[in-house]
Amino acid sequence: MEVYSEKEQIIKTIDLLKGEKQTLGLVPTMGALHEGHLQLVKKALENNDKVVVSIFVNPTQFDDEKDLEKYPRTLDQDVELLSTLNKDDILIYAPTVDDIYEGRTEAQSFDFDGLEYEMEGRFRDGHFDGVGTIVKRFFEIIKPHNAYFGEKDFQQLQIIKKLVEKHNIPVAIVGCEIHREANGLAMSSRNTRLKPKYKKEVSFIYKTLIAAKQYFETKSANEVERWVEKQFANHDLLKLEYFIIANVETLKEVTRKSNEKSYRAFIAVYADDIRLIDNIALN
Ligand code: PAJ
Repeated sequence: MEVYSEKEQIIKTIDLLKGEKQTLGLVPTMGALHEGHLQLVKKALENNDKVVVSIFVNPTQFDDEKDLEKYPRTLDQDVELLSTLNKDDILIYAPTVDDIYEGRTEAQSFDFDGLEYEMEGRFRDGHFDGVGTIVKRFFEIIKPHNAYFGEKDFQQLQIIKKLVEKHNIPVAIVGCEIHREANGLAMSSRNTRLKPKYKKEVSFIYKTLIAAKQYFETKSANEVERWVEKQFANHDLLKLEYFIIANVETLKEVTRKSNEKSYRAFIAVYADDIRLIDNIALN
């Protein structure tokens, strides 16, 4: 399996593949791959002749220097894991910061019609400008037919769809379901950093989401939100940052339910110093 660190080289290979009319899927990641990432790669392999997996810890989407430093970098392990899936049809693009940013490590400024100001946007300054900048760059370099993103980061998925629409980028964005641990916790590279005391407790997050979904059948969004806040206020170890029921299109908090609209519940929780996010479709 080829690992490319320079864009000129991967572009050459991609030009050849495109000349042979092969279809190309892209799965952007920051590495430290787990089963959740692999689900995206598997889906991409089903629907495309070749799949590029990018592995790049993107500095412009971190608002906290320490978080960026602490982010796990496990390229050899990631390559190994991907080669267990398929050795022939996966290309890995693991660029350096200079290769991809060409000396100007700055985020572009985007207008995502307000999607960027909700939820994660409120708590992570400049995050989505950083995500938009790097994903747009990957689209320009790889020019994939299809690109795969997890519903684990549902806001990111909606923002990427908006990016593509607003910039007329010819790529189909495919959303993939959240992959969970046996206890319901959404898989994440951060889960491995949970201390034993917290490992058991974090299943409370998904359990609460499921209960909230049931409540939402008969209660208002506001009532469900207050109920979830109370559950976490009574919890010794987990600290709720936000729980919001939002319209899936606008990501704005719901004030009045309508049968024609789709809603999702979004949550961010601290387990010690580890921030966990999750979400669930409500209707
Ligand atoms: P990263 O956190 O590595 O995630 C890469 C992709 O895997 C994202 O689309 C994310 O939603 C998906 N993913 C992660 N855990 C998942 C799970 N448990 N179930 C389903 N999908 C899951 O998201 C990023 O990287 C970056 O922001 C990136 C898009 C690569 C831009 O730098």
